[in-house]
Amino acid sequence: EMTGKPIRCKAAVARKAGEPLIIEEIEVFPPKAWEVRIKILCTSLCHTDVTIWKLTDGPAAYFPRIFGHEAAGIVESVGEHVDEVKAGDFVIPVFQRNCGECKDCLSQKGNACTKFPVEFFGGMPRDGTTRFVDSDGRPIHHFFSVSSFSQYTVVDIAHVVKMSRNVPVDKACLLSCGVTTGIGAVCKIAQVEEGSTVAIFGLGAVGLAVAEGARLQGASRIIGVDINPEKFEIGKKFGVTDFINPTSCTEKSVSEVIKEMSGGGADYCFECIGLASLMQDAFSSSRPGCGKTVVVGVEMHGTPLSINTYELLRGRSILGCLFGGFKPKLDIPILAKRYLDKELNLDEFISDEVKLDEINRAFDMLHRGKNLRCIIWM
Ligand code: APR
Ligand code: ZN
Ligand code: ZN
Repeated sequence: EMTGKPIRCKAAVARKAGEPLIIEEIEVFPPKAWEVRIKILCTSLCHTDVTIWKLTDGPAAYFPRIFGHEAAGIVESVGEHVDEVKAGDFVIPVFQRNCGECKDCLSQKGNACTKFPVEFFGGMPRDGTTRFVDSDGRPIHHFFSVSSFSQYTVVDIAHVVKMSRNVPVDKACLLSCGVTTGIGAVCKIAQVEEGSTVAIFGLGAVGLAVAEGARLQGASRIIGVDINPEKFEIGKKFGVTDFINPTSCTEKSVSEVIKEMSGGGADYCFECIGLASLMQDAFSSSRPGCGKTVVVGVEMHGTPLSINTYELLRGRSILGCLFGGFKPKLDIPILAKRYLDKELNLDEFISDEVKLDEINRAFDMLHRGKNLRCIIWM
């Protein structure tokens, strides 16, 4: 019986920016009010972990820290006031908050939950204190309200989604961030219609989820842009019909190639890498009069976006979203059902599997743009 007591377990701790994680024995405190302690079954690496892990300074750089925000697990115990889940429930933690009662959660518009004034890349739970200490009793920071690179973690109930037991653990894990984000960007934010032409910059798991969403919406042409030529073959499984490798565009720019391919510009463009210059390229590739560009990538260096105002005046728009505009507690169960109904392809997003001890291999692969999702078993 561990309820109410700290749990000793293994976690992969980031001690310094950009340096390999260290497998350590840590202590995980019991959940406070409104919190849930989760036994993580598996987790996976999303590029946002890599982006923030590399930051040496600025308001988002906190160390030591436990990264990880895509995961699936079992509720071990719950704090006071939690009645939405109980010990033994199958859940996924999500970075996107969804309290269900604030003005924004109750509104049909958008998915921003504004209940707590916690900064986005913040390092601690609701009350500003940590639930993790190392073997010397020193505090370790949380990440994105999830911190799943640990066998146990403590997450606010506003960040927990109950899952159907019918969804396999590793597929549930995928729904916790990247794949859901890509699909939401297409279905909720852009609202891609049948017959559309779509251009996707970056065919990682997020970009491929955009392709999968576009395929489900009936897009007729899905153009993938990636510097890794292997991504075309992989992309075809998710509906990618055309491919552009920017490194072989010497005479024309990528936007010019897309404009030619689509007779003037793509109806919908998505940036799924995290570079401001590519957000600009995506915007320039969109169709005058109606083209929509959705920024999905988290800018790696915090570089601001500069756009040509004449291109904007010609009727293009640019949109941003977190978590694909989806409300986690409402929309994730719908995606889970679409997976169980064999409509949504999730299996192909898993390219590798490792054990927690080998987590640095997952960083290596993703960093080099080589794999899709690597499932890390705890
Ligand atoms: N031009 C074209 N493609 C590129 C470039 C570039 N300059 N740089 C990287 N890529 C490709 C990589 O080859 C890879 O296929 O972009 C893809 C990025 O995929 P992943 O590293 O797997 O990242 P993913 O987890 O899909 O996240 C993508 O979404 O959530 C955000 O922070 C996340 O910004 C990141 C983005
Ligand atoms: Zn993510
Ligand atoms: Zn809310």
